[in-house]
Amino acid sequence: MTSSLKNCPAPAKLNLFLHVTGRRADGYHLLQTAFQLIDRSDLLHFTVREDGLVRRVNDVPGVPEAQDLVVRAALLLRAEVLRRRGGERGGARAPGADITVEKVLPMGGGLGGGSSDAATTLMALNKLWDAGLDREELMALGLPLGADIPFFIFGETAFAEGVGETLRPVDAPDCWYVVIEPGVSVPTPEIFRSEHLTRNTSPVIITDFSSHYANRNDATQFGGNDLQQVAMRLYPPVAHAIEWLRSFGDARMTGSGACVFCAVENEAQADAVLNEARGTWTAWKARALKRHPIAAML
Ligand code: C5P
Repeated sequence: MTSSLKNCPAPAKLNLFLHVTGRRADGYHLLQTAFQLIDRSDLLHFTVREDGLVRRVNDVPGVPEAQDLVVRAALLLRAEVLRRRGGERGGARAPGADITVEKVLPMGGGLGGGSSDAATTLMALNKLWDAGLDREELMALGLPLGADIPFFIFGETAFAEGVGETLRPVDAPDCWYVVIEPGVSVPTPEIFRSEHLTRNTSPVIITDFSSHYANRNDATQFGGNDLQQVAMRLYPPVAHAIEWLRSFGDARMTGSGACVFCAVENEAQADAVLNEARGTWTAWKARALKRHPIAAML
């Protein structure tokens, strides 16, 4: 049996648009969004341990282990594996793993880095531990850890509803993006609980996203990001980055920020924008990713 999986990518996502359409009784917000995977990723390495311990080899400074999404995802799957094998009392042994994360994606960036790390952890350990959960089971297991996690396990461009867990695949254009990291970290709960967030006053209800998207080939036409105004107000660098990027295209924020992006037609155009950004912004180019390489293994 394989005892390790190295160089497992955890790609970033962009929200091509994001509408807040309501709020659930538990406080979570109902959304409509288009999730697009891009080819910029954290990299994770997994090695099975025989002693049943789940250990993150390189802790994140300032993040207690109990809050680390990678560790929480591994522990959740480990408990599920134990349960399915009859529990410790039934003689089952808990599987263990050493996990290393090479962080590339910024925290609090709206790129889904933490959720993507957790999703890759669930999928890789499912294989390494021979746990046998299918895609839907892994998505359901991951959802309580983060609303974006099911999407990363779904693994392809999707129109999402609910809190982000109701997913439909859509064809994505093979396009390039320029992304700016404005240099601030935005905590998602702060944006969602803001009194300035517009919730459901005039929701744009999209009922047939796929056909619209296929016809227009540009999801950004569906409007902007309803979290953007709040993030710009609380974090001025987000506003400055959007203002700057606007001269190159339809700039907008991804998720609850802080990163902002715009679509460009080709790599040469992306390079031209990056050239202008040099010295002012931390910026990079990324290409739309059709399939999540790890989700494709499921
Ligand atoms: O699920 P995730 O960890 O991304 O969410 C962080 C916080 O953001 C939640 O605890 C909730 O306060 C808020 N949130 C929300 N509605 C969503 C997603 C997140 O209110 N659809």
